[in-house]
Amino acid sequence: MTRLLAQQADITQLNVDAIVNAANCTLLGGGGVDGAIHRAAGPGLLQACRALNGCQTGQAKITGGFNLPARFVIHTPGPVWHGGNRNEEALLASCYRCALQLAMQHGARTVAFPCISTGVYGYPHEQAAQTALQTVRQFITQNPTAFDAVYFVCFLAEDLHIYQRLLNTHD
Ligand code: APR
Repeated sequence: MTRLLAQQADITQLNVDAIVNAANCTLLGGGGVDGAIHRAAGPGLLQACRALNGCQTGQAKITGGFNLPARFVIHTPGPVWHGGNRNEEALLASCYRCALQLAMQHGARTVAFPCISTGVYGYPHEQAAQTALQTVRQFITQNPTAFDAVYFVCFLAEDLHIYQRLLNTHD
């Protein structure tokens, strides 16, 4: 049974197999969690990302973790929120699905997600959490032995409360 857990933490400090980065399409770093991950991983991560030639919104690409405790970083550009009529929900779901697909292909048993798109990209927190949980639950139902645990890492207490409520309601 795959455990789904929400916790308030700095994702760069988590000793999991793979952390997911809320990147932008250039994959060349930025602010928010992207900036934190690049700072913690060191210059090797940027060098590896340069070789990836960017990534489309909703897609995902994987690198090593370099100086991070995590073995892998999975980079996925989330959608910018434009009010919900530009396929944002489907693109956000695709970020979670593609990231899990890559994690599974690389044998990662524990995966940690930040709250993709809810910072600079302005995606409403509650709706993003619902899409994230729905997508992850669907994936682990279809791949029940793929992971030991999937973590929803919240930097903000607001997000932690949303995930805890949604997780408790369901289980
Ligand atoms: N650990 C975990 N979560 C974090 C951390 C951290 N160290 N730092 C920030 N966060 C959280 C934010 O609080 C927010 O809840 O990550 C979530 C995603 O916010 P952003 O990092 O702003 O990402 P996003 O909204 O997807 O915007 C992506 O911002 O940093 C740039 O290069 C990035 O252009 C891209 C855009």
